[in-house]
Amino acid sequence: MDKTAAHDLAPVTVAGLGPMGAALAAAFVDRGHPTTVWNRSAAKARPLVARGARHAQTLPEAAGASPLLVICVTDYAAAKSIIEGAGDALAGRTVVNLSSSTPEEAREAVGLAAGFGAAYLDGTIMVPVHVIGGPEAVFFYSGSRPVYDAQLETLRALGGDVRFLGDDPGLAVLYNTALLGLMWATANGYLHAAALVGTAGATAADFAPVGLDWLLPSVVIPILHGATKEIDEGVYPGDAGTVRMNLNAADHLLETSRAQGISTHVPRFLKDMLERTVEAGYGDGSYMGMIEVLRRPAEG
Ligand SMILES: NC(=O)c1ccc[n+]([C@@H]2O[C@H](COP(=O)([O-])OP(=O)(O)OC[C@H]3O[C@@H](n4cnc5c(N)ncnc54)[C@H](OP(=O)(O)O)[C@@H]3O)[C@@H](O)[C@H]2O)c1
Repeated sequence: MDKTAAHDLAPVTVAGLGPMGAALAAAFVDRGHPTTVWNRSAAKARPLVARGARHAQTLPEAAGASPLLVICVTDYAAAKSIIEGAGDALAGRTVVNLSSSTPEEAREAVGLAAGFGAAYLDGTIMVPVHVIGGPEAVFFYSGSRPVYDAQLETLRALGGDVRFLGDDPGLAVLYNTALLGLMWATANGYLHAAALVGTAGATAADFAPVGLDWLLPSVVIPILHGATKEIDEGVYPGDAGTVRMNLNAADHLLETSRAQGISTHVPRFLKDMLERTVEAGYGDGSYMGMIEVLRRPAEG
């Protein structure tokens, strides 16, 4: 987009510059939104400032810089500390929280933001960092429809497929955790299958065209196609998201399943596998490092 049109676009602040928050901020900058960034560890703002963002030193300064504050951090506790840290500077502004959480936490956040005079919208990001800003990016939102409608044009800078799921603020994270469970179950099955055919000498590159062509292309399948090199080389870079990040989100799936009154058997299994991967020393790498655990001899 032509950045000369930047004066027509709404200013945005992004708080949280991990792999995902940095990708969101970059998308706003690239679209031409005047973008302010804040992160607990200030050094992570540097690449975004070089790209055209402004760095706020404090949370009140960050919140006061734009009518919209987008938060993207590890969990609700971190998002809550950002809302509380911004405090009265949020009056009359809107908070969009794209951090992993539970439906209960999403509902609580509405009142938290309202206590500082801010409108609140909860959202979830359903794709990996490298598609943020592009047509393949998928976002779910839920809560106040008028708040969603007012922010939609700005939020479209983050990418193509934007869905409003309903007026319960907990719906977006409910769908998010449900679909993450679906993705992990698929990924775990794939990795187990790759480990199994690997016992006969097949590489992931051998197996992918056979195993994955059984499944329709979607969000998960391209991730697994992209993982072939990692699996075959045994190198799992965590720069786009880590096992620890997924473990944190798996906790949310477990707690949400419990809170919704359904079995926790599957999420307990998923969490257990992620914990084993962290214990094996792969916590800071990508999810695909789990294959190192799956390749080990049977325990029983
Ligand atoms: N990466 C992905 O592929 C992906 C995909 C979909 C959704 N998401 C979601 O996006 C969110 C961010 O994920 P991520 O990949 O960027 O990495 P992450 O490790 O989940 O989050 C890192 C960010 O959280 C901040 N943070 C953590 N605790 C904090 C606290 N107590 N106070 C203030 N800031 C705190 C970190 O600040 P410091 O830099 O100071 O540590 C950093 O900015 C998560 O909720 C994740 O579930 C990620």
